[in-house]
Amino acid sequence: MLILGIESSCDESAAAVVKDGREVISNYLHSQIEDHKDWGGVIPEFASRLHYKKINNVISKTLSDANLSLNEIDAIAVTHGPGLIGSLLVGMNVAKTLAWVHNKPLVPVNHLMGHICSNFLDSDIEPSFICLLASGGHTQIVRVNSYSEMVISGETIDDAAGEAFDKVARLLDLPYPGGPELDRLAQGFNFSESVYKGKYKFPIPKVKELNFSFSGLKTSVLRLKEKLCEAEWSENRTEIAFAFQDCVAQVLKKKIETAIEDSGIEQVIIAGGVAANSRIRKIFNEMNIKVTMPSLKYCTDNAAMIASAGYYKYLSSQEKEIYYNYGFEAFSKLTTNSLG
Ligand code: KG4
Ligand code: ZN
Repeated sequence: MLILGIESSCDESAAAVVKDGREVISNYLHSQIEDHKDWGGVIPEFASRLHYKKINNVISKTLSDANLSLNEIDAIAVTHGPGLIGSLLVGMNVAKTLAWVHNKPLVPVNHLMGHICSNFLDSDIEPSFICLLASGGHTQIVRVNSYSEMVISGETIDDAAGEAFDKVARLLDLPYPGGPELDRLAQGFNFSESVYKGKYKFPIPKVKELNFSFSGLKTSVLRLKEKLCEAEWSENRTEIAFAFQDCVAQVLKKKIETAIEDSGIEQVIIAGGVAANSRIRKIFNEMNIKVTMPSLKYCTDNAAMIASAGYYKYLSSQEKEIYYNYGFEAFSKLTTNSLG
């Protein structure tokens, strides 16, 4: 089954064709990073206008890369939330129109389920497993019982991990997008052991059960900046970036260990933009259990993961006819703890 995936929830206009939920036939995206750089972050209204300008070309390019016409596609999957509402509406309206004109089923996909399914694109892992999902807007532990049953069992009570990366990157005078820039800076600190015991150790937040908190950690970096003189701060930026990154990695690892203990499930995956972080990947790779992680291009937002999620959602639905009703709406925030 060939699915065309469309993603426009934040600052990437993306389209992809995926076969049977696993095999990427084509995957193309237009990133708005250069357009938002001068403002140091995504400007929502500007983002939706850029999606509107680019999305048709992105879809055409993906189909031509796959050497397919829309008539050869079996279904269209589109992100309907969570995300920036204006941006989501662009992708959704294009998807609804194409589905209606070509009489194709249209599958609305939760962006977070998409991130989880990014792991199906280059591994043969199957549920059940535990997913650590860390992106710019969310940090969650999700229990994935099947391709359609995905339940949030813990999440951040304040900032998301990616948000903390972006805010600390600003303190370090790094450009947007902060997370990958901070990662790049931190890699300049030559350190390969699994526990950092250097001079800038940040406290691990104590949060109950499988929940997270990153706002205190971000404030600790700010307090350090206020305490150090300018010269000491700038001479040690690399180590400070590393120490922060290591602290986030240790927090995520601890929570996953608790989730394994609680559930007895030993299969673990990571997903979302923060899963691209080099220190987090290293710490998770060194765990005593096998951890599956997407390749870097599938960690951050893309449409192949949306096509994969669309495939599994379509397969598991009893009433496939519902996907010929194009009346569903976009949502900016999660209102349930189920992603499937
Ligand atoms: O999943 P994603 O592309 O978009 C959302 O759904 O939010 O995640 C974006 C987030 C941003 O906060 C970005 O700074 C962070 O992921 N990120 C990283 C890295 N690459 C992206 N954070 C740390 N290290 C990275 N290498
Ligand atoms: Zn995302």
